[in-house]
Amino acid sequence: MVEEKFVVTPWEVTGAVDYDRLIRDFGTQPITGPLAKKLEEILGDAAYLIRRHIFFSHRDLNLVLDDHSKGKGLFLYTGRGPSGPMHIGHILSFYFTKWLQDKFHTNVYIQITDDEKFLEEKRNLSYEDTQKWAVDNILEIAAVGFDPDRTFTAKSVFGFTGETNIGFSFYPSIQILPSLLEKRRCLIPSAIDQDPYWRIQRDIAEPMGYYKAAAVHSKFLPPLTGMKDKMSSSKPETAIYLSDDDKTVRNKVYRYAFSGGQATKEEHRKKGGDPDVDVPFQWLYMFFEPDDKKIEQIRTEYKSGRMLTGDLKDILIEKVATFLNEHRQRREKARELVHLYKKDGALAREMWKRDFSKS
Ligand code: TYM
Repeated sequence: MVEEKFVVTPWEVTGAVDYDRLIRDFGTQPITGPLAKKLEEILGDAAYLIRRHIFFSHRDLNLVLDDHSKGKGLFLYTGRGPSGPMHIGHILSFYFTKWLQDKFHTNVYIQITDDEKFLEEKRNLSYEDTQKWAVDNILEIAAVGFDPDRTFTAKSVFGFTGETNIGFSFYPSIQILPSLLEKRRCLIPSAIDQDPYWRIQRDIAEPMGYYKAAAVHSKFLPPLTGMKDKMSSSKPETAIYLSDDDKTVRNKVYRYAFSGGQATKEEHRKKGGDPDVDVPFQWLYMFFEPDDKKIEQIRTEYKSGRMLTGDLKDILIEKVATFLNEHRQRREKARELVHLYKKDGALAREMWKRDFSKS
């Protein structure tokens, strides 16, 4: 069998991603068996993300759960590079991290890598652009509802100077740094593209007296345009942004969402649709329809041809619009919370008092 070509790095995702192969190539572990069961119990309402293998791969998650049950604790870390408006794929790991924070009652560090996006030349972003997007993106993240006393959101500058450990002066070190903020195991939720950084961290952490970072990896929510490549902040037709209003959501889904349906209604009724390549179905499955019975019913109806492409798109539009309206209401309320995440909440105050040259 010829293996299709695809690329997954922190800077590029192209082709149709074969996630089983990524587990082999990256040397991570699948989330299966007793570990998956345990995590499903912990996650409650969000368990479908494990059951459906949306978060499908990990490093040392078993050790994280052991540490938790032995009372050793853990902390969480995730991040965002503010290169533009956030889309629905970007927010998935943040909701997942919030669910984990609720269950583990633990600290969360959120890194906003404005420097990374400024430095990536192909993006052509000015310093002011990255600052503007950082402010906007922090508000989107605040809308997710993290505990204000256990969450610290920081731009990646972190107050380091050239005199700090020389290792901190290149970008991967900056992204790795928050995983070393506590002498406990750090669990990092993200899509699998960020894993290369954790590999470097795991090579250096123990000799420095820290824990190797643990990670839990998600698949990519596919672009609207089909099951290949990645949603892009700079290609509006591929993504739904958190700022898209109802009308934009409807237009984008009708116009651009790749359908697994047949060319005509008659043919569709006869042959049925293919949910495996149908982006509206995949988005429902991966995030927007947590109810297993409902999603399986949609699959059956669509495959049989009883449910038409337009009907399936309407279901997705309704779900996405509801989610975004709720998210935006939370975003408005979160304006008052941002200062807590940045400087005034209990964890943020502790961080600003800390002398990093001594740690
Ligand atoms: P960034 O801003 O590219 O992405 C933010 C988060 O979103 C994930 N992601 C996706 N998840 C699901 N579906 C998609 N289509 C999709 N596209 C992106 C990313 O994996 C990430 O979790 N360098 C980082 C910022 C960063 C970071 C971190 C991320 C700094 N520290 C720690 C995760 C964990 C970046 O530019 O992410």
